[in-house]
Amino acid sequence: MNVGGSVRVPGDKSITHRVLLLAGLTRGISHVGGALTSLDAQSSARVLRQLGAELSPLRKGTTVTVRGRGRFRRPDNPLFCGNSGTTARLLLGLLAAHPFSATLTGDISLRRRPMRRVTVPLAAMGASFPEQNGDGLPLTIRGGRLRPLRYDMPVSSAQIKSALLLAGMAAEVDVSLREPHGRSRDHTERLLQAFGYSVTQQEGWIRFTPGGRLQPFDIQVPGDPSSSAFLVGAAVMAEAGELRVSGVGLNPTRTGFLDVLARMGGKVAVENRSIHFGEPVGDLIVGPARLSGTEVGAHEIPGLIDEIPLLAVLASRAAGTTTFRQVGELRVKESDRLGLIAENLRAVGAEAEVVGDDLIVEGSDRPPRGSVRTAADHRLAMAFAVLGTLDGARIRIDDISCAAVSFPDFPESLRAIGGRGKK
Ligand code: S3P
Repeated sequence: MNVGGSVRVPGDKSITHRVLLLAGLTRGISHVGGALTSLDAQSSARVLRQLGAELSPLRKGTTVTVRGRGRFRRPDNPLFCGNSGTTARLLLGLLAAHPFSATLTGDISLRRRPMRRVTVPLAAMGASFPEQNGDGLPLTIRGGRLRPLRYDMPVSSAQIKSALLLAGMAAEVDVSLREPHGRSRDHTERLLQAFGYSVTQQEGWIRFTPGGRLQPFDIQVPGDPSSSAFLVGAAVMAEAGELRVSGVGLNPTRTGFLDVLARMGGKVAVENRSIHFGEPVGDLIVGPARLSGTEVGAHEIPGLIDEIPLLAVLASRAAGTTTFRQVGELRVKESDRLGLIAENLRAVGAEAEVVGDDLIVEGSDRPPRGSVRTAADHRLAMAFAVLGTLDGARIRIDDISCAAVSFPDFPESLRAIGGRGKK
C-alpha cells in the first residue's frame, strides 16, 4: 500500500489508568483531556464509580470530569476489571491502604493472569487476602494500616511497581523497589513527583518517601506510543509515502521499539518535541524502509514489552534473523502472547519459534497468507492486521473487534493511512 496523511492515536492507556485512579482518590474535581476511552479505560472508570468516585462518561473527544472523595468507600459488589490487568493490579495497591474488604474479578483472560506478584509484597506491607486460592482472580483484599517495604521485584513490571508505590502513597509509608533487568515505564513515578512526593533513583533502587499531597488537577493525556507503533509499522512496510503520527507520548521508558526499529533500518523522525505535564511528547514521521534482523536484549524488553507482537511481525519481513531474548513475560499477558506470536507467524507462512524464553523470527519476502487466532488479544489482532496491509497478503483474523481494548477505531485508522492494504 501507499501510506500518507497525518493522524492522531488515542490517549495513552497507562497514563489514563493512573490519572483516573489518582483523580478518583483525590478530594475534589479533576479534568482529564485526551483520555483513552477504550474498553480497558472504561474498566477503570467503572470500578472507580463503585468505589464512590463520580466520573463523567468516557467519550472520544470530551474531557472527563472526575469528582473524588479523598478516600474510597467500601464497594457493594465485586469490582469487575474486564480485560484490564493494569486496573486490577494498580487498584490492589490503593485498596491495600483502605480498611475494608473488596473483591476483584475480571474476564476469562484477566482471571488467569498472575496476581501473587502483587499480593505477596502487599501482604508483606500488611494487607491480607482471605481465601486466596491459586494465583488469579477473583481475589478479596482486606486493607488497612501498612508497613514500609523494601523489595527486590522478581520481574521488571510497571504494574507491580505502581501497585506498591500507590500503596506507599495511600498509606504514607516508605517504599523501596528494585527491578531485576531494565526499567519499566515510569509514569507513576512522574505523577507522584508532580504531587510533591519524593521518588528517587539510587544504585538501582527506586525510593518513594511520603510528604506530597494529592490535589485536584487538570491534565492532557498524550497519544499512546504503543498504539502509534501499529501505524508506524504499517508505514514502514508500505510501498511508498510518508505518515505523520502527531502528539505521541515519547517517555524514554516507552520508546524502545523506536530504537529497535532504527537498528533494523527503519527511519522515524521526531518533530515538535515538547513536555506536557511531565511527559515528553512529539510527532513521529515515518515512511517505508528495508529492514534487517537484529537481536533485542533482555534489558531492552521492559521498554518495548507491548510492542513485541508488532516488532515480531516486522521481523518476519526483515532480511535475516531477529531474536528477542528473555520474553517469558509474554506468556502471562492478555493471552499466551509468546506462543501465539510464533504460532500465528507460522500460520501465515513465516518461520518463528520459541526456544526457552527467547523468540526467534526468520525474515522472508513470501506474501503472508493464512488464518490468525488472536485469543481476543488486542495487540495480536492489530499486529497481524498490519501484516495484512502488505501487497499480496491474505490474512484472516478471527477477531479484530478486540482492538477496542486499547485502540477504538483501529481498523478505521489503518484504512485512513493507506486504504485496506491493497493498491
Ligand atoms: C502496563 C505495564 C505492562 C504493560 C501493560 C501496561 C502499565 O505490564 O504490558 O500493557 O500500565 O503499567 P507489566 O507491568 O505486567 O509488564
